[in-house]
Amino acid sequence: MVLSAIFILDSNGIVLMSRDYRGDVGKEQIEEFLPLLNQQEELGNSSPLLHHDKVSFAYVKHEGLYITSVMKNNANIALVFTFLYKFIQIATQYFNKLEEESIRDNFVILYELLDEIMDFGYPQTTDSKILQTYIFQESYKLKKAPTIPAVVTNVVSWRPEGIKYRRNELFIDVIESVNLSVNSSGAILRNEVSGCVKMKVHLSGMPQLRLGLSDKILLAINSSGQESATFEDVKFHQCVQLSRICDKNVYFIPPDGDFELMSYRMNTEIKPLILVRSKVVQASTSRIEYTVKVSAQFKASSTANNVEVTLPVCQDVDSPVFKATAGMASYVPEKAAVVWKIKYFPGGSENLLHVCFKLSTIRGEEKDDKKPIQVKFMIPYFTISGLQIKYMKVIEKSNYKALTWVRYTTQNGEYLVCLI
Ligand SMILES: *[C@@H]1O[C@H](CO)[C@@H](O)[C@H](O)[C@H]1NC(C)=O
Ligand SMILES: *[C@@H]1O[C@H](CO)[C@@H](O)[C@H](O)[C@H]1NC(C)=O
Ligand SMILES: *[C@@H]1O[C@H](CO)[C@@H](O)[C@H](O)[C@H]1NC(C)=O
Repeated sequence: MVLSAIFILDSNGIVLMSRDYRGDVGKEQIEEFLPLLNQQEELGNSSPLLHHDKVSFAYVKHEGLYITSVMKNNANIALVFTFLYKFIQIATQYFNKLEEESIRDNFVILYELLDEIMDFGYPQTTDSKILQTYIFQESYKLKKAPTIPAVVTNVVSWRPEGIKYRRNELFIDVIESVNLSVNSSGAILRNEVSGCVKMKVHLSGMPQLRLGLSDKILLAINSSGQESATFEDVKFHQCVQLSRICDKNVYFIPPDGDFELMSYRMNTEIKPLILVRSKVVQASTSRIEYTVKVSAQFKASSTANNVEVTLPVCQDVDSPVFKATAGMASYVPEKAAVVWKIKYFPGGSENLLHVCFKLSTIRGEEKDDKKPIQVKFMIPYFTISGLQIKYMKVIEKSNYKALTWVRYTTQNGEYLVCLI
């Protein structure tokens, strides 16, 4: 750099707002800008950089505005433009659109932004997540002291410095979900598993984390192009140093709070975790019967919790009679469905629901049940892929002890089975 001042002008060259960082160029200089620009355009020169006397103008035209910086001629132009575009990007994140109206509505925040991203003409942190913590949280009034921002010192743009927690804790959630789709002939059209590792980080300072994963998934990361036996499409959060993924370890400085560390898909065939079979019989013109059998096809040491089976029924039914081997079933007329809830459903077990309805309108034999059965479930302490967090090491210079909690869950995604 160095950048002396920044001006936001409307299309007529009227100054909407400005911030003078160094006081080394006169305010009146900006008046030269638009005439100079017009003059250059007439000459067919569309350079975003204009010179006048001993100052230069670098500008970006955006939504009818000129975002213009003024600097002495020795400035680092590439950095100035990077800064201008970054400013536009951040302001757009805050206000959705950076335009005349949003500027008029947000003077105070914009001034804070301009102060925060520039200090005496030197660019400071420009990561919008950090800025949001500065500007929208308690530390609304900012100390002007020349504190060196995290970006400059650690190149960690996703984590501000000075974070403090009384209890240093780390929560890891490995969540896998299944999309299943079975058509009315019982053919499995879709049976897909995707997974992610989510973290909630309550750690002070600038911790370095070392996460140990089971090797299968690391193989998938390493074998560029090659298909792994189990995993594909493995993606990591930007904080992970991909170059340092080796020896079954993943290294990173985490953002503060909640974020998704990684995601993946499984590419192996599996049996449907929860198998659903159904039968609909219209016993007479005035009676219809539904039978649903649900089998848990995972190992007996795991248990599905809060299994909920939503069985669509005809519109014109009443007086249900239920028979279930477990759980509670009820008729929900608004949804035209029977909802069957089973709190605990151990692996390897089976349950049956039988519902008999009266048909309120006499009618011939027809099946109008086009909607599929929907299943919700949650299996704790279980992953289909077998992905495991082997260990998590927290290294921080103040050497505190951090507690790590790991939770595994497998749950339904879009889990739909057509009635037969
Ligand atoms: C179900 O899917 C199978 C395999 O794609 C297909 O052969 C069958 O016709 C489908 N049944 C219905 C009712 O669509
Ligand atoms: C499961 O279905 C949801 C909703 O359609 C979709 O967003 C998700 O990507 C699917 N997952 C897989 C593994 O295909
Ligand atoms: C990944 O590949 C690199 C370079 O070939 C190797 O050093 C590293 O051990 C591999 N990591 C894993 C987990 O296989």
